[in-house]
Amino acid sequence: MAKEKKILEIEDLPGIGEVSAAKLKAAGIDSLDKIATMPYAELAETAGITPDAAKKAVQAAQESTTINYETGSAVFERRMTIDKVSTGSADLNEMIGGGVEAGAITEAYGKFASGKTQLGFQLCVNAQRPKSEGGMDGSVLFIDTEATFRPERIKEIAKAAGMDPEKVLDSIYYVRAQNTDQQILTIERADKLIEEKGIKLIVVDSMMALFRAEFVGRGALGERQGKLNMHIHKLQSLAEKHNLAVYLTNQVMDNPGILFGDPTTPIGGNIMAHAATTRLYMRKSKEEKRIVRLIDSPSMPEGECVIKITRDGIKG
Ligand SMILES: Nc1ncnc2c1ncn2[C@@H]1O[C@H](COP(=O)(O)OP(=O)(O)O)[C@@H](O)[C@H]1O
Ligand SMILES: [Mg+2]
Repeated sequence: MAKEKKILEIEDLPGIGEVSAAKLKAAGIDSLDKIATMPYAELAETAGITPDAAKKAVQAAQESTTINYETGSAVFERRMTIDKVSTGSADLNEMIGGGVEAGAITEAYGKFASGKTQLGFQLCVNAQRPKSEGGMDGSVLFIDTEATFRPERIKEIAKAAGMDPEKVLDSIYYVRAQNTDQQILTIERADKLIEEKGIKLIVVDSMMALFRAEFVGRGALGERQGKLNMHIHKLQSLAEKHNLAVYLTNQVMDNPGILFGDPTTPIGGNIMAHAATTRLYMRKSKEEKRIVRLIDSPSMPEGECVIKITRDGIKG
């Protein structure tokens, strides 16, 4: 038998040299799975190889990729031990199934001053607590697109929680994204930071502000949604791969199509609607009170609860 090299990267495929691998990667084809599902002709053209070589490469990619089956019970066991960050409010935690979950995306949308950023700050603090105290024992990556990150406010919340405020700030890695490219690249390149710094929570505050500002008009909508889709896909895969929680905030608009009831609709259309595993709608109530409504969850019933934004942070 010919010498067999285990196929791990696309360069290992028969007929795919360094040059064709580089062409494929430039076209966004960077995994064996992607090649395994490609039509031969398309691969031949993209990689600049003969159709015959492309056929062999696709077949080799198919043979090398494995599908992992798990029983429902195994998934159940894993879900029972999933990490959750406390929101600071016992009622809100209960409503969403124990806290903001690792391995998934949680979105909070609402008008300005509804408390989306404050909840983000609270999660930045709580994520750093030990697991036994409603935390994840991890650091935080905070992507700020609206210039509303306030370390002094986080210090205040940390102090109230009996934590060392300086230490808490030192474990938050902050990026001020000025445009969607910076926002996207921060996430594309986050793997290294996540591993080195033990990131357990990613906050994007807010997810849509820059997309909304940059892609104006109907004509730009398709491009916007395409870019957004890739960005969300990457966030979701980081959440699963590194078992971390993703918290996104989102702006709202008034939907003129809704004649009865609350016309407040989150930005981002279907792509955003499908992105979040858990979706929360936050509304201002009297004084420090905020109403949080659970709009979408894979396992919890719809519901509503009241939280308070206090000097010490989010309370029940
Ligand atoms: N130090 C503080 N103490 C008490 N409440 C605060 C404090 N800082 C901000 N807030 C409250 O948080 C509100 C702003 O919430 P925020 O999370 O920024 O809203 P948004 O939904 O726009 O992100 C303010 O209106 C204020 O009521
Ligand atoms: Mg905000």
